[in-house]
Amino acid sequence: MRPIDTRWIREDEPLQQAADALVAGQVVAFPTETVYGLGADALNEDAVRAIYTAKGRPSDNPLIVHIYPGFDLKRVVAEIPPQAKDLMDAFWPGPLTLIFPKNPSVPYATTGGLETVGIRMPSHPRAMELLRLADIPVAAPSANRSGRPSPTTAAHVWEDMQGRIAAIVDGGPCSVGLESTIVDLTGSVPLLLRPGGITLEMLEAVVGTVEVEPSVAKGLAIAEDEHPKAPGMKYRHYAPKGAMVLLRGTDRAKTAYVSAHLGDVAGKTGILGSHEWILALQQSMDLSGFDLEDLGSRTEPEIMSRRLFDALRRFDTSGCTHIFGEALQEDGLYMAMMNRMRRAAAGTIIDVNETPED
Ligand code: TXA
Ligand code: MG
Repeated sequence: MRPIDTRWIREDEPLQQAADALVAGQVVAFPTETVYGLGADALNEDAVRAIYTAKGRPSDNPLIVHIYPGFDLKRVVAEIPPQAKDLMDAFWPGPLTLIFPKNPSVPYATTGGLETVGIRMPSHPRAMELLRLADIPVAAPSANRSGRPSPTTAAHVWEDMQGRIAAIVDGGPCSVGLESTIVDLTGSVPLLLRPGGITLEMLEAVVGTVEVEPSVAKGLAIAEDEHPKAPGMKYRHYAPKGAMVLLRGTDRAKTAYVSAHLGDVAGKTGILGSHEWILALQQSMDLSGFDLEDLGSRTEPEIMSRRLFDALRRFDTSGCTHIFGEALQEDGLYMAMMNRMRRAAAGTIIDVNETPED
């Protein structure tokens, strides 16, 4: 594609121009509380196709449609199940996407050919203001180039999208840092398609039993022929360029494992860090001298999730070839982090308690 002039809209600048660009069918990146989105008019097929071109991804992947408080949901969905009302009351605006039967007004270009549509009402004040000014439903995938971690700052978006889209609205670092929770309400029991900032426990407290799509627990990319419920999941996402493994075991066993692998390298070359990195939790491992990307304290998952994608991006910019991460527990917000980390590691988890050496 021919490069275009991308406008950076600072945090203190008004949003009318960005809203006008959306109404005119252009692509504008904007902040949400989860990750930055790459937005365009959800009801305009050409505008939606321009998103796929900017992202460099196949056009059969359905997009989430973003609305603001007060927007008439019936403009985009065909039917509102009772459970949806309860979940919307509890968690909108916020990091929860709900799948509904689509209204005929929503083109198949937006839904990836599906009869359903994913809707989300972001809580980020800049997102709400932009959507209200534009007064159109805005289709937006995460604003990364295909195959890169989702962007959690405007600078991340600039790295990936500069020259490819009309504007980037800066709204500071994202407070959640992981993409929204997705729940499908078109079956008899709510189905969790993607874990995120609204946890399984929070959902079940409102609507009772929620089933979990099997691929979520596995965290693996779904084979192309499996027809996953969330079609986007068949693409390998969030993966840094370096080979990543997750270590499960006591802090001591993890330290021993990493030291055994990296001590050799450090001993031989006297330097370490440009090729091998460790994605660790604050003070969990005794690894002074090694290059650590610190996710923070194990007891503060909100901070960990905010940092995760930024860390994955830094692995790429540092050109590292091997990444050792720590496996986490699988409940609450940790479930969402483990889902992203398993994918980044292509499913490789090593139980270091059983195999202290190689
Ligand atoms: O937090 C988020 O959800 C961010 C921000 C920008 O809102 N957006 C986001 O979009 O993560 P994207 O395109 O990167 O991921 C959307 C996911 C994909 O896995 C897609 O398959 C799924 O949502 N999805 C969208 N519409 C769907 C539908 N009708 N049925 C099933 N899955 C759907
Ligand atoms: Mg994405």
